[in-house]
Amino acid sequence: METEVSVPSFAMPRIGDKAPSFKAVTTQGEINFPEQYAGSWVILFSHPADFTPVCTSEFMTFATREEQFAQVNCKLVGLSVDGLYSHIAWLRSVKEKIEYRGMKNVEVKFPLIEDITMEVARKYGMIQPGESTTKAVRAVFVIDPKGIVRTVIYYPLSLGRNFDELYRVVVALQAADAFGVATPADWQPGDEVIVPPAGSCGVAQERMAGQEEMTCHDWYFCTKKISREAVLDAVLKK
Ligand code: BEZ
Repeated sequence: METEVSVPSFAMPRIGDKAPSFKAVTTQGEINFPEQYAGSWVILFSHPADFTPVCTSEFMTFATREEQFAQVNCKLVGLSVDGLYSHIAWLRSVKEKIEYRGMKNVEVKFPLIEDITMEVARKYGMIQPGESTTKAVRAVFVIDPKGIVRTVIYYPLSLGRNFDELYRVVVALQAADAFGVATPADWQPGDEVIVPPAGSCGVAQERMAGQEEMTCHDWYFCTKKISREAVLDAVLKK
């Protein structure tokens, strides 16, 4: 008896992949993604629909924090499967009518892609039929200055994203690149970082004997201090 193998009908960029290219119309004109973002980090994110409350809270939060992301050389690009005129009308309504958690008169200046054909959403695995066949889930792709996907996070329709965490992801990725380290659970700049596992027992023993400036809890778990200032110096755009 033959076993039927189900093959997914959508692509899903994975960590380490080159970000799929596309050209699209946005609220800020046409974009050529990711090529025109070469040299910058970029967060490409999708939201389910314009004129919905969770999305509104997210856009207000992201727009309010856009400058904070810009300071770590990270640009923002949004997408939903709505059309351009819906995007424009929604963002105008957000600016003119919505006051939420101390944010008001919020202008969204980063591009919001129209994707009525779902071409981009499908390319990026943002349509997840078990959740919705007509709306994108809340996807987040963190893409580095070489156009490589470095982090992928998906949230369901009902769950608003945590923007402190998205910022932490960008800073942690940049710190890991700059210092050749990994970052442990809940890491924040100034916390100890993980020194990659030793390549040999000899190296591990040297480490355990304290010949490098690090603390080894066992051969596979060594940490060292990198000051908050050094991390910020490495990640903040000069
Ligand atoms: C919202 O953003 O509030 C939302 C959008 C689609 C489905 C559920 C919630």
